[in-house]
Amino acid sequence: MSIKILVNGANGRMGQIAVPAIQADTRFELVAQGTRNDDLGQLIKKSGAQVVIDFTIADHAYQNTKIIIAAGAHPVIGTTGFLPDQVKELQAECKAKKLGGIIAPNFSLSVILLMRFAQQAAKYFPHAEIIELHHDKKREAPSGTAVKTAQLIAAVRDNKNIDDIEIYKGARGASVENVPVHSVRLPGLMAHEEILFGAEGELLTLRTDVFNRSAYIPGIVLACEKVLTLKELVYGLEDIL
Ligand SMILES: NC(=O)c1ccc[n+]([C@@H]2O[C@H](COP(=O)([O-])OP(=O)(O)OC[C@H]3O[C@@H](n4cnc5c(N)ncnc54)[C@H](O)[C@@H]3O)[C@@H](O)[C@H]2O)c1
Repeated sequence: MSIKILVNGANGRMGQIAVPAIQADTRFELVAQGTRNDDLGQLIKKSGAQVVIDFTIADHAYQNTKIIIAAGAHPVIGTTGFLPDQVKELQAECKAKKLGGIIAPNFSLSVILLMRFAQQAAKYFPHAEIIELHHDKKREAPSGTAVKTAQLIAAVRDNKNIDDIEIYKGARGASVENVPVHSVRLPGLMAHEEILFGAEGELLTLRTDVFNRSAYIPGIVLACEKVLTLKELVYGLEDIL
C-alpha cells in the first residue's frame, strides 16, 4: 500500500521539487496539490492524504500545521521561520493525539551531517566562527541553519565572549550564543555554510554547498517514509537519521 501524500505550496520553488519526487517514488501516491486558494482541511479530507508536506510561507505554515494535525494527517513541514513556542505547542498537540510529524528546517543531508560534525569538533576546537552564504532572494539573516549550528556549538563548549572593538558596526558578524555568524547574500549563490575552527597552529574547516534544490529530495523522501512510524512531532531531520 503506497503512502497517500498531499503537497501544500505545490506551485512554489520547493513544491515544484517535492511534487515530481513524490510522483517518481512507487512507495508514494500523490493524492493532491495544495495552493494558497485551497481550503487545506477540506483538501486533506477529500484526498484522504495520510501525509501533508508543507512548503509555503512562515506566516501561514504554523496555521497549516494545526489544520494538518486536526485532520489527523502526518505533517512534514519544510517551511522555515517557526518560533520556538509554536514548535512546542504543535509538539503538545501531536503528543496528545500520538501523531507523528516532522518539522525540518533543512532537508539537505550534507547540512544535517555538517551540524553534527560541528558539534563534535567544537568539543576540541572551541574557537569557531560561521560563514553562511545564500542567494540574494533569501529573506532572513542569519539563516536558521547557521543559528542552529551556533546553538549546537555553544551547547558543548565554554562560553567564549566576543569583546572586540568594531570600528565599523557588524564587522565581527552577529553574535549567536557568542558564536560569530557572518551572512553573505549574493546572486549566483544557492545555500552554503562554512565553519572555521581555529586552534594554535591549525585550522579545521567544515563546509557544505547546496548547488540546487534537488539536494533536498532524499531528506523529503526519508521524512515521508519515517513520519508514519513516529508518535510525536520531531523538530529537525537529524532526529530521524
Ligand atoms: N526545509 C528545507 O530544506 C527548505 C529548503 C528550501 C526552502 N525552504 C523553505 O520552504 C518555504 C518555501 O520556499 P520556496 O522557495 O518554495 O518559496 P516560494 O515562494 O517559491 O513558494 C511558496 C508557495 O507557497 C504558496 N503559499 C503561500 N501561502 C500558502 C498557503 N496558505 N497555502 C498553500 N500555499 C501557499 C505560494 O503561493 C507559493 O507558491 C520557505 O519557508 C523556505 O524557507 C525549506
